[in-house]
Amino acid sequence: MKALTRTQYGGPENIILAEIPKPTIKSDEVLVNVKVCTINRTDCGILWAKPFPIRLFTGLTKPKHLVPGTDYSGIVTEVGSAVKEYTVGDRVWGFYDEGLQSHADYVAIKANTYITKIPENISFEEAVASGEGAHYAINFINKIDLQAGDKVLVYGATGAIGSAAVQILKARDIFVTAVANTQNMAKIKALGVDRIYDYLTQDWTGDELKYDFVFDAVGKSSFGICKPLLKKEGAYISSELGPGNQNLYLPLLTRFSSQKVIFPIPKDTKASMLIMNDLLRKNQYKPLIERSYSLEDIVDAYTYVQSGQKTGNVLLKIS
Ligand SMILES: NC(=O)c1ccc[n+]([C@@H]2O[C@H](COP(=O)([O-])OP(=O)(O)OC[C@H]3O[C@@H](n4cnc5c(N)ncnc54)[C@H](OP(=O)(O)O)[C@@H]3O)[C@@H](O)[C@H]2O)c1
Repeated sequence: MKALTRTQYGGPENIILAEIPKPTIKSDEVLVNVKVCTINRTDCGILWAKPFPIRLFTGLTKPKHLVPGTDYSGIVTEVGSAVKEYTVGDRVWGFYDEGLQSHADYVAIKANTYITKIPENISFEEAVASGEGAHYAINFINKIDLQAGDKVLVYGATGAIGSAAVQILKARDIFVTAVANTQNMAKIKALGVDRIYDYLTQDWTGDELKYDFVFDAVGKSSFGICKPLLKKEGAYISSELGPGNQNLYLPLLTRFSSQKVIFPIPKDTKASMLIMNDLLRKNQYKPLIERSYSLEDIVDAYTYVQSGQKTGNVLLKIS
C-alpha cells in the first residue's frame, strides 16, 4: 500500500511516499481503507517532536511509528473475528493525539479504541475535520462551569480549536464574542457568534463586556491582557504556555483568587469523538475546512499548517 513514512524527527522534507505492506489485523481490530485525513497542529508537534516532552509519548530519540497521521475517515474493509460492533462497508472515523499511522491507504484500529461510525449525511471530510481541534476545544471548555446565557470570548476563532470552540459553545446557548482576522469575518459570523472583533483593525482588549470565560484558543495573548475582560469570578485558559511559560504556574498563583487561570491537559479523544458525532447528527456542528492536499504535496501541506495561519482544518486526501 501507499504510505507516508519517516524514521527521524524533523521537517516534512524527511517524509518519503513509499510502498509498504498493508497492515494485518488481530482478532480485536478492523482494517480501514483511508479516504481522508487532516494535517493538523498535533501532526506538526509529532513530526518535529516539539515541544520536547511530546517525545515521552511518540518516541524518545526517534518516532515510534513509521507512518505519521493522527486521524482518518474511511471504509471498513476487514473485521477481526472478535469484533462485533463493525462490519465490512461501515463508514468510520477516528482521532488519537499520540498517532494512529493513518497517512496511508490502510490503517488497523482496535475496535474498542479510536473508531466510531460516521453519522448519516456527514461526509468523510466533515467527519475527520471534527476531530483534532474539537477535542482540544471540548477539553478546555469542560473545565469551566458554564450555563446557557453565560458569556465567553474566544480569541483566535479562525483556528481549528477556536472555530470548534465557538460552535460547541453556541450549541449550549452560550453568548460568544469571537476575535478573528479581517478575511474570515463572514465565515466566523456564519458560525452563529453574537459579536465579533477583527483583531487586525479593532482593539478587542478594550471590550466593555465582562466574560465568565476568556479562551485564548491561539495562545497569542496572556492572562494580564485578558484579566480586565473577566467577570469577578471569571476564568482564563490558553491553548499555549504563554510568555515565559506563565500558564504553567499561573494556575497555582491564582488558585485562591476569584479570577483563575487554568491550564488543562486534554485527554480521552474517544469521548470527544462521541460528543462530536452527537453534534454532527443534530446538525449543530459544521467544521471549517479551508483546503486540501494530496500525498504528493505533503511538504507544502505541513509547511502551510505549521505557519499557524490556516483557517479551521486542512485535509489530506488519501484515496
Ligand atoms: N494545549 C494543547 O494541548 C494544544 C493542543 C493542540 C494545539 N495547541 C496549540 O494551540 C494553538 C492553536 O491551535 P489551532 O490548531 O487552533 O491553530 P491553527 O488552526 O493553526 O490556527 C491558528 C489561527 O489563529 C489565527 N491567528 C494567528 N495569530 C493570531 C493573533 N495574533 N490573533 C488572532 N488570531 C491569530 C490564524 O489566522 P491569521 O494569522 O491569518 O489571523 C489562524 O487562523 C497552536 O499554537 C497549537 O500549537 C495546543
